[in-house]
Amino acid sequence: MARKFLVGGNWKMNGSSQLVSQLVKALNEGSWSSNVECVIAPPAPYLASVRSGVREAVGVAAQNVWVDPKGAFTGEISTEMLKDLNIGWVIIGHSERRSIYGESDELVGKKVAAAVKAGLKVIACCGESESERDADKTTEVVFRQIKAIADQLSPKDWANIVIAYEPVWAIGTGKVATPQQAQEVHKDIRNWLAKNVSSDVADATRILYGGSVSAKSSPDLQKEKDIDGFLVGGASLKDKEFLEILNSRQ
Ligand code: G3P
Repeated sequence: MARKFLVGGNWKMNGSSQLVSQLVKALNEGSWSSNVECVIAPPAPYLASVRSGVREAVGVAAQNVWVDPKGAFTGEISTEMLKDLNIGWVIIGHSERRSIYGESDELVGKKVAAAVKAGLKVIACCGESESERDADKTTEVVFRQIKAIADQLSPKDWANIVIAYEPVWAIGTGKVATPQQAQEVHKDIRNWLAKNVSSDVADATRILYGGSVSAKSSPDLQKEKDIDGFLVGGASLKDKEFLEILNSRQ
């Protein structure tokens, strides 16, 4: 099954009108293989301007969304607002949402289901902490996180799901997982999907690696069989490096 390589850029809480203009210009003028899909995730205040400024082929994602389509949820963002702005994607369950804002596996699962129901494509995040890896609990943690999502979905929903494996110990640390470390967990995730959802879903679902991806590390990582793309943080704010990462896959 050919899975289209996807490079996501998670800007996190970084952005300004100047940076938006710079990154949008670079993506409009830059080029990369037609075998590679690009999705960028600016902070919420910039979603509309990024969507209207960047070329249609580049997907735009929100970094979070609430479960209900509207209502008394001060500070939240709804799926309906994203659709209103022609925002087609949303990142859900990022480790920072889990650790800083206390998002539970169950809430992440409900958010993913609500986003899919609203017609959005979802990058659903999972990943273990350093202490969990040191305790040899990586797959226990990742499988638990993915099960909480799978429990909320029907098999057909998976057509709108991309999984991002982001080992927490690699996020923002410069300590990127080796291609072998990443491939091992990606393979385990794919095998879990085959066993618990279906072999078709396992074959079709793209699994991205995230955690200190750079222009230096991306060429070797993208060679791995079960790495179908990246979710890039810091390097996505550097226009030249993000274009290099997009071009690390032909
Ligand atoms: O969502 C991607 C992010 O968590 C990775 O961040 O800065 O390590 O590439 P970074």
